[in-house]
Amino acid sequence: MTALGTPRLHLRVTTSTNDRARELAEAGAPHGTLVTAAEQTAGRGRQGRRWSTPAGGTLAMSLILREPPALPPLAAAVAVADAAGPAARIKWPNDVLVDGRKVAGILIEGRPPAGWLVLGIGVNVAVDLTQLPPELAGTAGSLGRDPRDVESFLADLLAALEARLTQPAAEVLEAWRARDALLDRPVTYAPPADGAGIARGVDDDGRLIVETPTGERVALAAGEVHLSPS
Ligand code: BTN
Repeated sequence: MTALGTPRLHLRVTTSTNDRARELAEAGAPHGTLVTAAEQTAGRGRQGRRWSTPAGGTLAMSLILREPPALPPLAAAVAVADAAGPAARIKWPNDVLVDGRKVAGILIEGRPPAGWLVLGIGVNVAVDLTQLPPELAGTAGSLGRDPRDVESFLADLLAALEARLTQPAAEVLEAWRARDALLDRPVTYAPPADGAGIARGVDDDGRLIVETPTGERVALAAGEVHLSPS
């Protein structure tokens, strides 16, 4: 298997590294191809949101995967948490938090019939949080590293991804569950289903289980989940 991160295309500025990686995937680029950018002008997040990547201190990367891992969103989140350190927690399905603040996000796009996925990861390695849009002031965090450490963080993350993306689902789930930020906490969830309850972990397919006030257990496969205000 090709090592993750080879070949690599690094751009000073681009719209979205996921866009560049998709183009390369469609042109036949191999498994493990990496696109990174120092700055994104139209970074994308989940649920149609924007992802802010100011120049300096952020990691914006997209990897082409042609050998699909078990539970891709969960395996990728565990790898990011491994690289971020022991304090990192995961908010279902794959936001990585430190001290309750989001330090990394993951956007997986792809064309499974064509045999490829693009795994996009954004990490606030050394971000000056005042440079982020004001609406992120209460939720965004940073790993608080030195801006010169983005490359060494990338090396750690690629090593963690090599390990996690080839693990059996049971091992990925065990590691994910050990970092579950929502376990036994009150949450609300939004479309496609709406409701509230207590988060009870993930099932073996990576769905979030929420116990509703009537005792029913709902398994969420998609959508947004938020901690209820305490
Ligand atoms: C999210 O939490 O909403 C997902 C954020 C994913 C951001 C990364 S940055 C690199 C790659 N390029 C993008 O446009 N998005 C992903």
